[in-house]
Amino acid sequence: MKFVKELKRTEYCGNLNSKLVGQKVVLMGWVDSRRDHGSLVFIDLRDREGIVQVVLDPNKAETAASKNLRGEFVLAVEGIVRARPDGMKNTKIKTGEVEVEAVRCEILNEAAVPPFQVDDKNVNETLRLKYRYLDLRSPRLTNHLITRHKVAQLVRKFLSDNGFLEVETPILFKSTPEGARDYLVPSRVNQGTFYALPQSPQILKQLLMVSGYDRYFQIARCFRDEDLRADRQPEFSQIDMEMSFIDQEDIMQLNENLLRTIWKEVKGVEVGKIPRMTYQEAMDRFGIDKPDTRFGMEIKDLKNVVAGSGFKVFDDVLARNGIVRGIAVPKGGAFSRGQFDKLTDMAKRAGAKGLVWVKAEADGTYSSPVSKFFSPEKLGEIFATVGAKQGDCALVIADDFDPACAALSTMRLHLGKELGLIDTSKDHFLWVVDFPAFEYNPDEKRWVSRHHPFTSPKDEFAQDLIDGNESAYGSMLAKAYDLVCNGYEMGGGSIRIYRTELQQAMFRLLGMGKEEQEMKFGFLLDALKYGAPPHGGIAWGMDRLVMLLCGTDAIREVIAFPKTAKASCLMSDCPSEVNRDQLTEVGVKLTPLAEKALEEQRKVHGSRDKEV
Ligand code: AMO
Ligand code: AMP
Repeated sequence: MKFVKELKRTEYCGNLNSKLVGQKVVLMGWVDSRRDHGSLVFIDLRDREGIVQVVLDPNKAETAASKNLRGEFVLAVEGIVRARPDGMKNTKIKTGEVEVEAVRCEILNEAAVPPFQVDDKNVNETLRLKYRYLDLRSPRLTNHLITRHKVAQLVRKFLSDNGFLEVETPILFKSTPEGARDYLVPSRVNQGTFYALPQSPQILKQLLMVSGYDRYFQIARCFRDEDLRADRQPEFSQIDMEMSFIDQEDIMQLNENLLRTIWKEVKGVEVGKIPRMTYQEAMDRFGIDKPDTRFGMEIKDLKNVVAGSGFKVFDDVLARNGIVRGIAVPKGGAFSRGQFDKLTDMAKRAGAKGLVWVKAEADGTYSSPVSKFFSPEKLGEIFATVGAKQGDCALVIADDFDPACAALSTMRLHLGKELGLIDTSKDHFLWVVDFPAFEYNPDEKRWVSRHHPFTSPKDEFAQDLIDGNESAYGSMLAKAYDLVCNGYEMGGGSIRIYRTELQQAMFRLLGMGKEEQEMKFGFLLDALKYGAPPHGGIAWGMDRLVMLLCGTDAIREVIAFPKTAKASCLMSDCPSEVNRDQLTEVGVKLTPLAEKALEEQRKVHGSRDKEV
C-alpha cells in the first residue's frame, strides 16, 4: 500500500487524451479487462470517468503484478501517456487515441470473481440489483448519476439566481395528503403515536410562505406507499418550490426558463415556447391528461356518425351520455384476428367493455365484427371519420367517458410504440392546464381532490365551494397545471388556497368534519389566520426528469439504490424482520396475519436472524 501513500492520482482514466502525450500520470482504477500477450499485458483500467488502455511488461519487477491481475482488481498505475499508432486507435472509447505505458503498478486490492461482467447488457435485473454496487460501476449507470448531479447543480444555481432560498423540511412529520398511503414511523417516546413520512413537503412549504420566506425550494425526498410502476418509486425526490405574490403565469414562465436551462446545459438542445392544452382538450384528443404528443393517432368523435345506428352497444352508451370514439391505426389493415383479439383484451384491461375494429379490404369492402349492424357506407364513414386510409384500420370504443378514454389512450400508446411511430430523437413538452378540481369516487361515494386539498379553485367557483353547492363540484376547475414530457407527468403544481374560510369549505367538501379538520390540519388552518400571502408552487419529479434526460424508461436506472416493484431492496434485503424487543419498545405488536406472512417469508429466505 506504500504506493498510495507515496503517489497521488494525477488523472482520471477516462480523461486521458492526446494533449497529455509524453506526460507521466498516476491512475487508480478497476481492471475492466485483461489481455495477456506473453511479453506484454494489456488491461483496460476503469474509473468513474471512463476506461483507458494500459500496457504492462510482466517481466519487469515494477510491473510484474500484471501477471496476477483479474477482473475488478483495484490498481494503482504510474505510466507515460503515449499516442497509439495509426490502425491501433479505438474510436469506440473517449480515450481511444492514447494508451498508458506502465512504469509501475501495484495491486491495491484483489476482487472475487464478480457474478457478472460490469457492463454486460444481458444480465437479468434481479442479479444486477442484488449486486447494485457492481452495476453502479457500469458507464451506463455512472453517466446517469453524473447527469443527476448536474441537474441538481443547475437547479440550485438557477433557483438561487432567481431569489429562491433552499430550506430543509422534516422527514418525521404528519400525514400530508397527496393521494397515496403514508409510510408510518412509530414513536418510542410517545407510545401509540406515529409520524408519517412526508408524501411531499406541501403543507410545510405553504407554512414557509406564511412565514414570509417568499421563494422557497428544496430537492426534497418524498415517500408514498402506492402501487409501483416503471416511473414510480416508494421514495423519490422532488424539485419542490413555492412562491408568494405570484399568479399561475409567473410560475409557468419561471419553470419554462428552468426547463430551457436544463435542456440546454445537459443536452445542448434549445427548447422553444412550450405549448399549452386544457385538460379537456388533452382528454378529447389523446384520452389522457399527460399525452405523448410526439406522434398523431389522435382520437376522433363518432357520435354523429353512429347515432341511431341500431347497434345496441353504441345506442345504449350514447343514451347514458357516454362516448363513441375511435382512432386510426396506420397499416392496421394487415392485423390478424389474433392481433385484434389482443387489442380487445388490452382495451378490456384498461376498463372498456369491448372493442370494435373496422378495416378496408382490397376490393373496397369493409370488414368488422359489427358489419351486420352497419351498412358498408356507414362503416366507410366510421373509417374515414377517424382518419383511416386504405391499408389502415379503425379502432372504436363505446363507453362512459373515463374508461373509453383510458382504453383509447392505452391502445394509442401501445400501437404508437409498436409501430415505430414515435420520433424518439426529440422531446415534446406540454403544459396541461384547467384541471377539474374534484373527481367523484363511486366506491367511497365521496368527492376527492384531483391534485390536493390545498389547491385553489378558479375564482369563479370559489363561492360555490363556500356555499357547498354540490351540483357544481363536478364542473369546477382548479388553478392547477402539469408539465408533461413525452407522455410523462414531469411536474405538477397549483395556486393555493390562502384563506381559512375557503380551506375549511374545501375540507368540508371532501367529507371532513370540524373535529377531523382540527386534528389533521388544525395547524394549517391556524396559520392561514395569521397573514397568509397569496401563493403557489410546483414540484418536479427529479427522478423522472433525469430519466427523460437520460433517455431511459425506468426510473430505477437513475437512482443509486432503487427499490423493486414490491418496494424492496434486493441488495440489503429490506424491508426485513426486526428484533421483538425493538417492536415492544416502540409499542408495536404484529397481527396474526403479519406473523403468518413472516413465517412464509422465513421459509423462502431461510432465517437470517436467529435471535428474532
Ligand atoms: P405531485 O403529487 O403531482 O405533486 O408530485 C409532483 C411530481 O412528483 C413526481 N412523482 C413521483 N416520482 C417518482 N415516484 C413517485 N411515486 C412519484 N409520485 C410523484 C411526478 C409528479 O409530477 N406537493 C405537490 C406539488 C405542488 O403542488 O407544488 C405534489 O407532490 O413527476
Ligand atoms: P357483442 O354484441 O357483445 O358480441 O359485441 C359485438 C362487438 O362489439 C364485439 O366485437 C365487441 O368487442 C364489441 N363491443 C362490445 N362492447 C363494446 C364497447 N363498449 N365498445 C366498443 N365495442 C364493443
